Amino acid sequence: MDRVDLIVFNAGQLVTCASDGPKRRADMRDVGIIENGSVAISGGKIVGVGTTDEIYRGFDAVEYFDAGGKVVCPGFVDPHTHIVFAGDRLSEFELKIKGAEYLEILANGGGILSTVRATREASIEQLVEQSRARLDKMLACGTTTVEIKTGYGLDTETELKMLAVIEILDNTHAIEIVPTFLAAHAVPPEFKDNADAYVDLVCTEMLPLAWRWYEQSQFSMNGTPFFVDVFTERNAFDVAQSERVFTTAQSIGFKLKAHVDQFTSLGGSHAAMAAGAASIDHLDEISDGEVSELAGSDTIGIVIPTENFNAGKTRFADARKLIDSGCAVALSTDYNPGSAPCPSQPMAMAIACRYQKLLPAEALNAATINAAHAVGLGDSVGSIEVGKSADICIVDAADFRLLAYEFGGNLIKSVIKRGERVVTS
Ligand code: NIG
Ligand code: FE
Repeated sequence: MDRVDLIVFNAGQLVTCASDGPKRRADMRDVGIIENGSVAISGGKIVGVGTTDEIYRGFDAVEYFDAGGKVVCPGFVDPHTHIVFAGDRLSEFELKIKGAEYLEILANGGGILSTVRATREASIEQLVEQSRARLDKMLACGTTTVEIKTGYGLDTETELKMLAVIEILDNTHAIEIVPTFLAAHAVPPEFKDNADAYVDLVCTEMLPLAWRWYEQSQFSMNGTPFFVDVFTERNAFDVAQSERVFTTAQSIGFKLKAHVDQFTSLGGSHAAMAAGAASIDHLDEISDGEVSELAGSDTIGIVIPTENFNAGKTRFADARKLIDSGCAVALSTDYNPGSAPCPSQPMAMAIACRYQKLLPAEALNAATINAAHAVGLGDSVGSIEVGKSADICIVDAADFRLLAYEFGGNLIKSVIKRGERVVTS
């Protein structure tokens, strides 16, 4: 009999989302339920998964946690966010209600650029405090791993400041963070009408300095990957500029992600996949050829229905077609002040089910195991499996489908991260 730190027992549905790799097609409809399940945890890791009978035969524990017959599922992984920022975009919210377009606001110096102004002015301490409050909300909604992008600095000093904030957050918050360098998020005002010169600065100065930061950070020590992302879009960066950032970043050591096909089909999805991107994100306007290419690749397709919902759109990325074509699809909130002020992966699931016609099981796999693969952590988080980090939610539901069925509240009762109870209700 092995003595472990903690046994979470009496899960009416132990929803494991277990999988050898990213889930595709019919596997996405299987969330790996063990009825009346339990999980044994030691040293922050999962050491046993099975029925309560099986676990009690193999283990006893220092501490026991009764799940009360409720759903126990993996902590959510949010693979695309921009939560380090200052200020708000409340006036833009009203402009959009009155009919203004997102890219038009950006072209007029607002949108992302208004958040850039506020973020440049904010101190590290202010950014840490404001971003920590956002992580708290995400954790309360069951998210235990979050990718965070820079991209509201657009100058060397502020982009590095954002990286410093991300590292402090990772050190001081229960949520595990994956950093992404998104200096190519928008063309800053200093380079208006000369995006190529800004791309020069990104490639020759910012990327090498960001990598130097990474090499000295705990992320590199822990083996957490460091990504580069580019917003390939009208009024942002064209495909040639994006490819230049990818090539330079890859030669330095970064892994790649891309914002593509959010508003305009430019061939950005193909360019990012050809460069070996871990994920391509948004995909509202992806072409049929690129859907086939995605299905045949290791790249994860991240869809972001919170963005469409926030913009009041009725058109969404065709996630149904992506899944039916064999693509590995993940979901994110995109939590940011402009296009998606949403901390909740269950909310993203709720929208995906209604407007993208995902089944609740597909949405849950997309927000857990596939999202983990999208941030390069598929071997350590995203499912309840032996050897993985003990990142677990106890849900106030007897059936996991309620996570996507109900919306507007919060069904997460308790959250365990690396074996520690970090949210208890
Ligand atoms: O994923 N599209 C570009 N970036 C973000 C929005 C960031 C913002 O509006 O501040 C997105 O939608
Ligand atoms: Fe984004």
